[in-house]
Amino acid sequence: MNDTATLNATCLIQGVGVHKSYKTARETLHVLKDADLGVVQGEVLGIVGASGVGKSTLLHVLGGLDRPDAGQVLFKGTDIYSQGSVFLDRFRNRKIGFVFQFFNLLPDFTALENAMFPALIGDMDKKMARERAEALLVRMGLKDRLTHKPGELSGGESQRVALARSLINQPDLLLADEPTGNLDARAGDALLDLIRELNQTYGQTFVLVTHSQRIASRMDRVLELAGGKVQPIDKDLIL
Ligand SMILES: Nc1ncnc2c1ncn2[C@@H]1O[C@H](COP(=O)(O)OP(=O)(O)O)[C@@H](O)[C@H]1O
Ligand SMILES: [Mg+2]
Repeated sequence: MNDTATLNATCLIQGVGVHKSYKTARETLHVLKDADLGVVQGEVLGIVGASGVGKSTLLHVLGGLDRPDAGQVLFKGTDIYSQGSVFLDRFRNRKIGFVFQFFNLLPDFTALENAMFPALIGDMDKKMARERAEALLVRMGLKDRLTHKPGELSGGESQRVALARSLINQPDLLLADEPTGNLDARAGDALLDLIRELNQTYGQTFVLVTHSQRIASRMDRVLELAGGKVQPIDKDLIL
């Protein structure tokens, strides 16, 4: 097998010839232009690129949140956007976890309740959801913050709640969009320590968009998005 064939055979998720544009009143903005990428099961993959280049768009397309204009997203070989809305809803809820730069926690609910939500949406028994959420939050070092609301948490703590929430349904793939973008260096490093630990212990697959060279250097592999396409990049050369 050549390199491409090897990658295809081991890919958890693949974007093939992905196009995505946005129509505004004045123009059509072509963000992704024939982008190809593969995420290997069990890796921590970094995605870098200039602001506005389409990194968030790419993550949304991979995670079933935003339908591409053309091209395919193959999850374990299945083209997710050729399936119906029931499949896509289940895919987003069960197979994918999302972590966002601004945490996106619900302000009126506790850390524990926030972490439980995707499990309740997925019809998990409430007691089991609570037990799982609690175990995850304890693992994130938040044993003493279970009943705190987002306004009573630091940035680092909030992002760890968001990480627990993203893992509650044991997703195959965790997509994180600049998860350390709003954290100081120490909290960012601590989040990365947790991500690496989850990867090593459970083989959890991560795709992580970052602006930070320090964070990118801790990825297994780094891709750069530029001109609507994805290219491999030597992580030691990122400036
Ligand atoms: N819903 C939308 N409508 C119009 N333009 C959008 C929309 N979402 C994103 N864009 C534009 O598409 C480009 C890529 O956005 P984004 O994926 O958020 O970039 P990045 O995450 O790399 O900063 C940007 O120029 C942005 O302004
Ligand atoms: Mg973005």
